[in-house]
Amino acid sequence: MEQNELNNKILSIDNIYGGYGGVNILNGISLHVKNSEIVVIIGPNGSGKSTTMKSICGLVDINSGSIIFKGKEISNMRTDKITSFKIGYVPQENNIFSSLSVEENLEMGAYSEKKGKYNLKNSIERIYKIFPPLKDKQKQAAINLSGGQRQMVAIGRALMLDPDLLLLDEPTAGLSPKFTQLIFDKIVEINNLGVSILMVEQNAKEALSFADRAYVLVMGKNRFEDTGENLLNSEEIGKMFLGG
Ligand SMILES: Nc1ncnc2c1ncn2[C@@H]1O[C@H](COP(=O)(O)OP(=O)(O)OP(=O)(O)O)[C@@H](O)[C@H]1O
Ligand SMILES: [Mg+2]
Repeated sequence: MEQNELNNKILSIDNIYGGYGGVNILNGISLHVKNSEIVVIIGPNGSGKSTTMKSICGLVDINSGSIIFKGKEISNMRTDKITSFKIGYVPQENNIFSSLSVEENLEMGAYSEKKGKYNLKNSIERIYKIFPPLKDKQKQAAINLSGGQRQMVAIGRALMLDPDLLLLDEPTAGLSPKFTQLIFDKIVEINNLGVSILMVEQNAKEALSFADRAYVLVMGKNRFEDTGENLLNSEEIGKMFLGG
């Protein structure tokens, strides 16, 4: 492999096996994200998409293989250590604190920062710039927001420490087509600010239409990988994974 190509990768997962308590759910996953890319993971329920995202954040046991982020081996490191290297993570479920206000949720995204060095106010304002509706609702409890706005809070929280890589696990789950499109537009906007994106999506057709590249996961292994466009135009992928 060319040295340039190696250096170009912000994240590189090589042949990982791992799971929960000794049972492997991931059976040899390899994938990468190049600087500034949007990479999408699709695949059937239970194929290990969320487990792959968790593995990057140190939330599952990795029994073999490697995960390199910005040149550093991060597999099996502690989650707080990994995120301190500037990885933001929005989990599939329970990704906000419902009873806390919008602003308090955003503050939680920076709780690990030491006082003094870090400018909390600036970071919160930066998030409101990306998601203006949140500014109007800053004092409201998150539970009172619409589904789309709750996802904005979850994404905003993950952006508080200005990550270089953002991991999004089904950011449009349960949203109306209108809010789904809005969240996709925001993801592209965040990517244009220089944040590389790795995301799991069940709205596969829409996601493939703006993804640089994508992977299809089946039973804990990546089965197909290509540009979003090629996967979208593939008859085989269409029949098997995109509903015909
Ligand atoms: N905490 C856990 N402990 C044990 N097994 C788990 C745990 N979480 C998930 N699994 C199992 O791991 C497998 C993969 O789950 P995972 O959540 O990664 O799938 P997924 O591709 O994200 O599915 P979905 O599309 O439904 O979100 C499933 O068989 C699931 O039952
Ligand atoms: Mg999942």
